[in-house]
Amino acid sequence: MSALFEPITLRGITVPNRVWMAPMCMYSAAPEGPETGVATDFHFAHLTARAAGGTGLVMTEATAVAPEGRISPGDLGLWNDRQQQALARIAASISAHGAVPAIQLAHAGRKASSERPWNGSTGIPADGGGWQSLGPTGEAFGDHPEPAELTTEGIRRIVRAFAEAAERALAAGFQAVELHGAHGYLIHSFLSPQSNTRTDEYGGSFENRLRFPLEVVAAVRAVWPAELPLLFRTSATDWLSENAEDGRTGWTGEDTVRLAKELAEAGVDLLDVSTGGLVPDAKVPAAPGFQVPFAQRVREATGLPVGAVGLITEAEQAERIVADGRADVVLLGRELLRNPYWANAAAEQLGAAGRWPTPYGYAVTRR
Ligand SMILES: Cc1cc2nc3c(=O)[nH]c(=O)nc-3n(C[C@H](O)[C@H](O)[C@H](O)COP(=O)(O)O)c2cc1C
Repeated sequence: MSALFEPITLRGITVPNRVWMAPMCMYSAAPEGPETGVATDFHFAHLTARAAGGTGLVMTEATAVAPEGRISPGDLGLWNDRQQQALARIAASISAHGAVPAIQLAHAGRKASSERPWNGSTGIPADGGGWQSLGPTGEAFGDHPEPAELTTEGIRRIVRAFAEAAERALAAGFQAVELHGAHGYLIHSFLSPQSNTRTDEYGGSFENRLRFPLEVVAAVRAVWPAELPLLFRTSATDWLSENAEDGRTGWTGEDTVRLAKELAEAGVDLLDVSTGGLVPDAKVPAAPGFQVPFAQRVREATGLPVGAVGLITEAEQAERIVADGRADVVLLGRELLRNPYWANAAAEQLGAAGRWPTPYGYAVTRR
């Protein structure tokens, strides 16, 4: 019996297994014109392939809720009908291949208007073909151009944009929404004391720094049906306070436990636990499964279902994480880029049933 290939039910949705696809930006949509932020045939093939490969839940890349919330000019968006139509075709294809279609909704905040990673991820100034980014304060991320500090009205507009994108996601056929609260993007930048030094009701105390993220959760939960799960991705640490050699104060694993309790009360059904991304020069001790203990801590302290992510590459490693109760699901990123059929290969290795497309299944299950 494989724990990894046991179904998991969140609200009214049963995901057929616990191998989930992590959100991964492809930076491959049109940067301007009527197709801006619209998923292409490449996105269709990319996401369909992982569903056909037996993955339990297939998540889109960070999809911006507003034009200025894109990380790069090539990011997907979900603020107009054209974008919604293209994503609907993808959600239908993921479902048709037996996986649960999920979408990550995001606002890049002060890390927006960046070059694609293969061009260096540097900030593009507004007068150099980019756009004005937005942040909790006017302080820049690394050597990116300075963001404009969000006004209260600006915050309200973005909260509404998240809710409107969630309504579009529902209409497009997605069955789970994940809010991107990690990696230094807008929601995370409000949470961390390292980036949020506002002096109004959205900054300062722990409660104030949670205000904007919880407003986004409430606005999305209000439009997202009660029978469908809402996920939240968090960076459990900025890797500052945990590092004895780094004197800076950041968001910590303990803060994450407190946040998880608030999120659970606000109607979040699973916390997807990543780390880092807020401070460019923070030292990250990356190693196989290095983020799993943060997920485990949340699970043990709160009982909220959690996802573990980061350098999970082997079937037996993934099986142990779930079987030992350290996380409820695992999310795979780069390993699924390398091998879209990872889940079916893992099922075979663990003696569980995979999920092949019918035209493949009768053939590949005999030699
Ligand atoms: C190409 C690429 C794009 C990514 N884009 C996103 C994204 O859109 N949203 C997000 O939350 N994380 C993103 N990530 C992080 C992954 O979701 C994942 O957390 C990370 O790659 C660690 O998992 P892995 O070791 O299995 O790749 C991205 C990672 C990669 C490699």
